Amino acid sequence: MQIVHSIDKFRDKCSSLSRSLGLVPTMGAIHDGHLALIKQASLENKSVVATIFVNPKQFSENEDFNDYPRPIESDLKSLENENVDLVFVPSTDEIYPSYHSTHVAVGKIAEILEGKSRPNHFQGVSTIVTKLISVSRPDNTYFGQKDAQQCAIVQKINRELNLGTNIRIVPTVREKDGLAISSRNVYLNKKERSASTVLFKSLEKGRRLKGNGLTEIDALIACIREYIVSEPLAEIDYISVVDPNTLNNFSGPTDQSKQLLALVAVKIGNIRLIDNMIYD
Ligand code: PAJ
Repeated sequence: MQIVHSIDKFRDKCSSLSRSLGLVPTMGAIHDGHLALIKQASLENKSVVATIFVNPKQFSENEDFNDYPRPIESDLKSLENENVDLVFVPSTDEIYPSYHSTHVAVGKIAEILEGKSRPNHFQGVSTIVTKLISVSRPDNTYFGQKDAQQCAIVQKINRELNLGTNIRIVPTVREKDGLAISSRNVYLNKKERSASTVLFKSLEKGRRLKGNGLTEIDALIACIREYIVSEPLAEIDYISVVDPNTLNNFSGPTDQSKQLLALVAVKIGNIRLIDNMIYD
């Protein structure tokens, strides 16, 4: 496995790897969720490239950028075990030199849901993802369904800026009790960890209800809310049920054949967790 730190080396190495090339962007603290993306990329490509960069531009001032876990040695080991060909580990200055002032703004879709609670988050994500794809020119680029809004946004950027990669979405990897795996789960204490299953369970409840014929969006949201508020440690940020492709609210009535995307953001203690589920 080769490790490079500069954009020029990253570009050179990517252009000499055999095609097809799969790119897996990450912020490190590699866990089974990330590894599912790497495994999928390995199945579908001759070469796999991963990036590790804790992107300051996608954190707000009150967020955990400085405390974000950075276990680089064990990350590199995990990637090597999966036979990743190349890892790009740039410094912040390499990605954003002092004169850097160009950003990718995707409009309204970045202002709802996560974007409402985290201003500038998706501008930061969009900018780094565009840079990484521009430099590495991957055939396929891998993202996790865990971050559903991020998936919709990178698909939009890829289409509208003609980046020319295929965006591949990998299902959410969960702990045995349903909690979506996330780098932030390590911050949960025992009580909070046990309360955190409320996200998955509330989404499951919504799925069952839709399966049983409940298609009225407000009623679905009310049932999910009712489940979450039964957990005393949970504080709801948002619950939303939208069109999975556009993330728009449904204007008219829905029927059972419509695919819905249910999303929740909930604070458990001080830890803000997100999860989502597609209701087919
Ligand atoms: P990060 O949080 O490190 O996640 C990297 C990728 O792993 C993302 O596509 C994310 O959706 C996926 N992922 C995380 N947990 C997952 C899980 N439990 N199951 C499946 N996939 C999971 O997301 C980012 O980094 C950044 O925003 C990034 C795209 C790298 C841009 O900086």
